[in-house]
Amino acid sequence: MVLPRATRSLDAEWPALDTVDLVWASASLHHMADPDRALAQVSAALRPGGLLAVAEMDSFPRFLPDDLGLGRPGLEARCHAALGEEHAVRVPHLGSDWGARLTGAGFTIEAERVFAIELTPPLPASAARYAQVSLRRLRTGMASRLDADDLATLDTLLDGEGPDSLSRRDDLTVRHTRTIWAARRP
Ligand SMILES: C[S@@+](CC[C@H](N)C(=O)[O-])C[C@H]1O[C@@H](n2cnc3c(N)ncnc32)[C@H](O)[C@@H]1O
Repeated sequence: MVLPRATRSLDAEWPALDTVDLVWASASLHHMADPDRALAQVSAALRPGGLLAVAEMDSFPRFLPDDLGLGRPGLEARCHAALGEEHAVRVPHLGSDWGARLTGAGFTIEAERVFAIELTPPLPASAARYAQVSLRRLRTGMASRLDADDLATLDTLLDGEGPDSLSRRDDLTVRHTRTIWAARRP
């Protein structure tokens, strides 16, 4: 849904909108302060019979083998544990039962499909770039929750074209799960 420029946050009061046929919310509902309120607003904006498509995930993607041959094994598991603590505070709705929330908002679930993404080597260079962008964000956000050794290992991996950088590894994977719901306003 495209809102007027002045109304950037869907947590704010929504302006009067034209009725729409389709709303697409990808990886965004869990960011809402009050997703149930946002879903009620979506329902009000949809025409009867209109469709809401929701894509959500319950965690950050994973890229690394357990033993990198660098630092202590289990780096990514520790990063995810730290991320889980952070998410519990900052994005408590991540991993919600969205099907139940959609039903609670009056939608009829027409389809629910889980996409388990499991990309294994050999992967194109774009996979390393995806890992780079994602792990850099994680490095920035988790700096206070990881120990110095793990931060140093992440820095080595994120060191552009460095000899131990992500871009030189041939053992990266992309593992993630996304669930899609198609929900209709009765
Ligand atoms: C994880 S990104 C997903 C981006 C993209 N939709 C996708 O599927 O790749 C989360 C998105 O939610 C948006 N978002 C977070 N809080 C929001 C809010 N209160 N109102 C509107 N959008 C919000 C962010 O701007 C960001 O684009």
